[in-house]
Amino acid sequence: MKSMLSVVLGLAVVGAFGAETIKLPAPDADSGVTVMQALKARHSERAFSDKDVPMDVLSGVLWAANGFNRPDKRTNATGMNKQTIMVYAIMKSGAYRYDAKENVLVKVCDADLRKAVAGAQSFAATAPVSLLITADVSDPVYKGNWSTLSHYDAGIVSGNIYLYCAANGLATVCRGTMDRDALKKALNFGDNIILHLNHPIGYPAVAISR
Ligand SMILES: Cc1cc2nc3c(=O)[nH]c(=O)nc-3n(C[C@H](O)[C@H](O)[C@H](O)COP(=O)(O)O)c2cc1C
Repeated sequence: MKSMLSVVLGLAVVGAFGAETIKLPAPDADSGVTVMQALKARHSERAFSDKDVPMDVLSGVLWAANGFNRPDKRTNATGMNKQTIMVYAIMKSGAYRYDAKENVLVKVCDADLRKAVAGAQSFAATAPVSLLITADVSDPVYKGNWSTLSHYDAGIVSGNIYLYCAANGLATVCRGTMDRDALKKALNFGDNIILHLNHPIGYPAVAISR
């Protein structure tokens, strides 16, 4: 049976600059449970079912991660409001940059990089999607005393992802593990891009009872 994800991926279009883009559904701000219930349910999960993540859910988790909740500010706080975090969705069909302003995924690589994201932890490659949390630290502010600022920013994005997943019955785990060299090469990242963390995301292999 064709999954919802595959169906929606079929709607990918070629954007203004020639890149393949996927228009995401508007995030559903009414989905989920209360913040207290999400905090109660939050945990790390490392076994995923083979069920795909539907596009409306992917849209929701990306928005929670670092979407815009005001015209020029985001769901995630950033030191000095630098908004330097960029999230990538790594899926079987390729790697996509989340363009939060346009609410689209922009394809940046045709290859399935889930094994590179998994690195030494093969379980992570079984998740249908991994969110890769990166930061562009080319701004001079990230030199010297503030060199760790984007690390904190990445942690906040991870927390948002955990809460969305807990509130919406998704399995995830924050990971520092990944094959950074393989990802940097495949995604054509220069030295100014830090690969901070990643979150494999899917439905739990065993249903979670709340
Ligand atoms: C910065 C950070 C890096 C982590 N890296 C990994 C990792 O590489 N692999 C992994 O399986 N879990 C990783 N974890 C998840 C922790 O192991 C997990 O949060 C911890 O065991 C507590 O479990 P809980 O999240 O269910 O409360 C990481 C967590 C954080 C915050």
